[in-house]
Amino acid sequence: MTAAGADPGPPSDIADEGLAEAGRARIDWARRGMPVLRLITERYEAERPFAGLTVAACLHVTAETAGLVGALRAGGARVFLAASNPLSTQDDVAAALAAAGTAVYARAGVDHLTYDEHIHRVLDGRPDLVIDDGGDLVNTLCGQRPELVSVVRGGCESTATGVLRLRWMAAEGALAFPMVAADTTATKRMFDNTCGTGQSVLDGLLRATNVLLAGRVVVVAGFGPCGRGIAERAQGLGAQVMVTEVDPVRALEAVLHGYRVLPMSEAAALGEVFITATGSRDVIGPAHLAALRDGAILANAGHFDAEIDVAALAQAAVKVTRDVRPHADEYTLPDGRRVVLLAEGRVVNLVAAEGNPPQVMDVAFAIQALVLRWLADGEAALPAGVHGVPPDIDAEVARLTLEASGAQIDSLTEAQREYLNSWRASP
Ligand code: NAI
Repeated sequence: MTAAGADPGPPSDIADEGLAEAGRARIDWARRGMPVLRLITERYEAERPFAGLTVAACLHVTAETAGLVGALRAGGARVFLAASNPLSTQDDVAAALAAAGTAVYARAGVDHLTYDEHIHRVLDGRPDLVIDDGGDLVNTLCGQRPELVSVVRGGCESTATGVLRLRWMAAEGALAFPMVAADTTATKRMFDNTCGTGQSVLDGLLRATNVLLAGRVVVVAGFGPCGRGIAERAQGLGAQVMVTEVDPVRALEAVLHGYRVLPMSEAAALGEVFITATGSRDVIGPAHLAALRDGAILANAGHFDAEIDVAALAQAAVKVTRDVRPHADEYTLPDGRRVVLLAEGRVVNLVAAEGNPPQVMDVAFAIQALVLRWLADGEAALPAGVHGVPPDIDAEVARLTLEASGAQIDSLTEAQREYLNSWRASP
């Protein structure tokens, strides 16, 4: 189904075209909370920086992502969109985007083969620019579709795990074009990883379990920006928070925030709720499973479903009861202990809740929209490899966001500027 007057675009693979109306309503609601992206969209509508260019994106297909897609299309881009996680797709949003002319290859709950196939379909669009979330698109592009890389001007990566993969690719000479690590800006980390993920992970946990957090022992694995946000919000709801870490500086930071820091081998027997946010694998493995208390709840916030060893849990269980509540599966172990796994070990905030709020994604996607324009202009002339976001883009997004929130800041006086810029000046 195509909205009246909309460009039908290339064919999509979505769950149900009939959901487009519901998707549009959801997108409209998100748009209200995305003032910076609205402003950029208006600018792009007038300036058309992506005219004639194709963007391939692999992102969570949510109402907020629709805001970014809208900005790129307003700027003249053809957009091909695949999901960056097989479970996070909002089918109504996918339908609305497809109806408006974006080529969408995303259905909630697809298997791995279809997930990979969708990424290939997006690459079939022969992108000039790419946007990735977790590295699967760029991996496929450089590893399996070498015939396409010569036209790619560059792209941006949204998340820490994807940036890590890109750095390894670059180190081995496998990254064929410049990628900008949109994850590394101060504004993105503040808004998305700490505030947004902190809130939405607890939202996912609460929707899936309706558990009271006050007085409960919550173990947070990883004290990066995400883990810190989760820990702070769980503490705010009255939980006793414990933190596990492998980095001594981050562990010290957790200690200074007042959390008990201990190895997972000890935390396993103490925790009632576990939330992993490390970007690593097997953070909760067979030895930890053996120590868990009856009723322990396991959730993951890290990008991949590798942080909780779900295969080991399934192997250890004598009984698995699916959907004891939506997005909560109960595993019964031979000694009768029950372990509740949320969202099959995938990103709990995107599977069991709606992902980060629009106000958060406004900032994250505003950075990406501006970075993509910078790459499209070709002025950057970056070599293949991983690059930071130019500081002026970060500052512009922070300025626009402050403006939208009604906050104002001071400016340096001439005397202050002179004082700060000279070793000669003294008060
Ligand atoms: P980060 O890399 O800055 O922090 C991860 C922390 O985990 C580090 O301090 C590291 O030392 C620690 N760690 C690594 N292995 C560990 C282990 N075995 N045990 C305990 N701690 C360990 O990353 P950030 O930004 O905090 O993100 C974490 C994960 O969340 C990444 O996978 C990222 O892609 C993902 N992410 C998820 C979001 C969501 O909406 N669910 C949003 C943003 C990021």
